[in-house]
Parts: sequence; structure tokens; C-alpha cells
Amino acid sequence: MDKAFIFYCSPAGTTRHVAEVIKKTVADYKQPVSICELGRDAKKAAEIIAEVTDSKQRICLFIGSPVYSSHALPLIMDLIAKLPLKADAYAVPFVTWGAATSGIALAEMGEALQQRGYKLAGAARIVAVHSLMWEVENPAGKGHPDSEDDALIRELVTGIENNLLKSAPPQLPQSVLNYQSEAVTAEMKQQNLELARKFLPPREVNRELCTQCGICADSCPVAALTLEPYPTYAENCILCFNCMRCCPENAIEADLSPAHEMVRIRYEKYKESPLSKIFLPD
Ligand SMILES: Cc1cc2nc3c(=O)[nH]c(=O)nc-3n(C[C@H](O)[C@H](O)[C@H](O)COP(=O)(O)O)c2cc1C
Repeated sequence: MDKAFIFYCSPAGTTRHVAEVIKKTVADYKQPVSICELGRDAKKAAEIIAEVTDSKQRICLFIGSPVYSSHALPLIMDLIAKLPLKADAYAVPFVTWGAATSGIALAEMGEALQQRGYKLAGAARIVAVHSLMWEVENPAGKGHPDSEDDALIRELVTGIENNLLKSAPPQLPQSVLNYQSEAVTAEMKQQNLELARKFLPPREVNRELCTQCGICADSCPVAALTLEPYPTYAENCILCFNCMRCCPENAIEADLSPAHEMVRIRYEKYKESPLSKIFLPD
């Protein structure tokens, strides 16, 4: 490839970690790479998308999302839907997931990328600590991503680098990403963040503890939180609970134990194996 572009969203930092491993591996091949975290820096995102639009070279887009309610984040799907149509461009969807289920995120991202004319060069699902379980001693996905997960990511990038040197690089068939059964896929299509909003507990701001320091607003990956003068949530909140996790005063309160129970039930139900997996064309 002539240049790599990495776009990702990462409320709790794991998808950022994977994006950084990709970036370092591409850089080790002495190739130019731009990286952008969506939601936090709209100006940089617009500049990099303009560069993608203008590029006449063989480029490869790595696009990463955490799995939320079995899907990629809406922010990521919106980005894909607005990508410039390209002729000789490749794309690599990747997700991190909290060992409940990787859902149909990769399948949906792959399909949407192909609709924009991007050829699939590879894909990855990387297991991670479940980001709703930071307070739990034994969270789903404990210890991940670990060094073996990182090695898988490097293997993916190396495979893609080698393939994209060829005059007619092999493509990953999108069907490979439809790895859930038909019944599970149908079930997951019914799930979404709006339903999760009804199930997940409300966050209560304890005004006696809150010092209005603004760390919660700074930690919001989609700028959905403002101090008015206490933390107030806009509709684009993605329910990552980063605000609660990052509050130094523990002033944002919610009982996540039913959600933890649900994660464990889903882990037992779907039992995806292997947990982390890379997809490269044969
Ligand atoms: C609202 C919400 C929904 C989630 N839904 C799922 C899910 O359906 N399946 C799963 O395995 N993990 C799920 N997770 C966990 C994240 O996918 C996982 O922890 C991911 O690695 C977080 O990425 P980040 O660290 O980049 O934010 C969910 C987390 C949140 C906050």
C-alpha cells in the first residue's frame, strides 16, 4: 500500500490500543500512516478524510470500533457511509469486544465498506476487558488484549502489507465476516443502543460530591456531556459510562450489576471461539 489511514473510536481506550499497534506495525514497514480518533477531533478527521478523497494512490483504511449491543458504534457506521467512493482502495474493519459477543459488527462494517467501493484486505476481532466491568474483580475478557492479541494484530498488518504489494491483491470475501448463525444474526439485528438505553441504569449525579471539575466532560468520547453547572447528558451519549469511570470524586453513580450479569449470560450463550481472530484472504 502507498499510505495507511486509521480511523477509530475508543471510549475506554482498548480500540485505541489496537489502532496504535496497527500504526506502529505500518510505520515499521516505513510507510506513511495517519491516525484519527473520531468524536474527539472533528477538524483532524475532516482533514484526513479530505486526504483520502484526494489520494490517487493505493490506500488502505483501517477502521476500528468497540462492539456495543452487538454492533459497531453509530459514529463509525456514519463515517463509513460518508467515505469517498474509491477505485483502488482497500479497507480493514476491526473491532474490540468484551467477551459477551462480537456480534454482527464486522459483518456490517465490511458490507458498508464494500458498498463504498472499498475492497476488504482483512479484518480482526480482538477481545478486551468488558468496558462496563472496570470495577469488577473478574471482568469478562480479563487480561486482554494481551501480548498474543498484539502479535495477531501485527500478523494481520504484515499479511496485508505483503498482499498489497501484489499487482492484483487477493480480497477477503465479505461472507467470511458473517460468522454468526442465521438465528443469532436475526436476534442481533434486533439489538441496538436505544434498547440498551432502556436496560442500562440511569446515572445519578451526586451534587454533594461533584466539584464541577469537568473531567467527566473531557473524558466523554463524543462530547455529549456539559456542565450546566452539573454534568448533563445530550442525546448523542453512547452509554460508555466513561464519565462515571473517570470521576475522581465518584460523584456519578449507577448500579451496573444487572449489566454485569447480562454480560456473563451472553458469554455463556454465544461462546465465541477463538476470542481474538484475524481474517486474511486465502
Ligand atoms: C454500552 C456498551 C455496550 C457493549 N456491548 C457489548 C457487546 O454487545 N458485546 C461485547 O462483547 N462487548 C460489549 N461491550 C464491551 C466493549 O465492546 C469492549 O469492552 C470494548 O473493548 C471497549 O472498547 P474501548 O476500550 O475502545 O472503548 C459494550 C460496552 C458498552 C459500554
